[in-house]
Amino acid sequence: MTFDPIDRRKFLGRTIGAGAAATLVDAFAFRTSSAAEQNAVDKRIRVALIGCGSVSNAYLSHLAGCPYAELVSVCDIIPERAQRQAKKFNVPNHFPHINKLLDGPEFDLLVNTTDMQEHEHLNREAIAADKHVWSEKPIANSLANGQEILAESKRRGLRLWGAPIVVASPQFAFMARTLKSGVLGSLAAAHADYGHTGPNWSSFFYEKGGGSMPDLGVYNLTTLTGLLGPAKAVVAMLSTVTPLRQITGKGEIKVTAEDNAMVLLDHGNGVLSHVQSGFNYFNPHGHDGDKESRHTISIYGSQGSMGLVGYDWEPLGVDLATHGEPNYKRHSTNAAGYVWQQGASLACECLATGKEHLFTPEHALHVVEIICAARESQSTGRRIDLTSTFAWPLAS
Ligand SMILES: NC(=O)c1ccc[n+]([C@@H]2O[C@H](COP(=O)([O-])OP(=O)(O)OC[C@H]3O[C@@H](n4cnc5c(N)ncnc54)[C@H](O)[C@@H]3O)[C@@H](O)[C@H]2O)c1
Repeated sequence: MTFDPIDRRKFLGRTIGAGAAATLVDAFAFRTSSAAEQNAVDKRIRVALIGCGSVSNAYLSHLAGCPYAELVSVCDIIPERAQRQAKKFNVPNHFPHINKLLDGPEFDLLVNTTDMQEHEHLNREAIAADKHVWSEKPIANSLANGQEILAESKRRGLRLWGAPIVVASPQFAFMARTLKSGVLGSLAAAHADYGHTGPNWSSFFYEKGGGSMPDLGVYNLTTLTGLLGPAKAVVAMLSTVTPLRQITGKGEIKVTAEDNAMVLLDHGNGVLSHVQSGFNYFNPHGHDGDKESRHTISIYGSQGSMGLVGYDWEPLGVDLATHGEPNYKRHSTNAAGYVWQQGASLACECLATGKEHLFTPEHALHVVEIICAARESQSTGRRIDLTSTFAWPLAS
């Protein structure tokens, strides 16, 4: 999506309130001026983060170094966590509830890093309070609810985004360019997998609305739909391998969400893909992306194939073999600054400068629909047709 200059002015007026708005509108006027002049302009977006658990460490440290962000408040229903993160990251305000956060000092963007099941209602409340939203996955619990929240955000002139940002990596761009070049011939199939032995610090991963698909499969589903196009239909089998789990500070819990998922996607034109995710995968490298050396994503055509080295959230390169050059050759080994936890910082950059990125809420909602369809396919034994789509191919 791009903004014309008038839209940008309206948008920023909405974004940052009267005082700072003039400064930021001026910032756009400086886009063609010198770097020194640009640096002299305050372009920072006021950020509040809700959900001060594990992932907040990665987000807050990236936001603390982001030139477009100013950390204003943090919030958690466990007040000591909000207090701890405020102290650790030098954030001036901390709150124990979203209502108190919204009634507190003004901010522009809510970064939502709470439990997966909490995102939808918190995103809705933030949009209703005229805040832009960056949400960890999933952006909503169902396609219909997510579309409603997105429509409301657009009606109010606000922005809504959801993790993951795998389509922003240079390795995704390399794979997209390779597919576009036609060097793989007739495209046929793709496989992707991501798993580990599961988190032990929170029970929501294993409760209704959780599971390995919205936590882990979501990365591969975003990458494959980003590369091969929106899916038309889904067939899935899901299971629970470990019915009881030990959670730190909580003891034994009953697992009520899938922890083992096999999802088949039909992308149209004969192209089929398969995404496998689970919380029961032994991996000698554990959760550490930079030590994963195998192909976690493979794409096959009649004239060539390619494999992503490492995970799509922390890719290390792309191996490509073609009819003309049949020995795998490694490409795109440089991350060029891409890190998975930079999504909220990129949202701030977009709000401050108008720069658009490839990840969109429509794409995130398409993935939500796939996950819901996989659950329906498991419970009915049927192939489920999808209704949502997103602008594709992604420019890269
Ligand atoms: N931990 C990771 O490495 C990681 C990486 C990428 C994405 N994620 C995603 O980030 C999200 C959070 O995961 P996590 O591992 O940080 O979980 P966590 O349990 O460590 O943290 C979640 C925090 O949200 C708080 N919370 C829950 N409901 C709330 C509410 N209504 N208002 C305010 N605070 C609330 C909890 O008290 C907790 O402190 C999930 O969507 C997960 O899929 C996690």
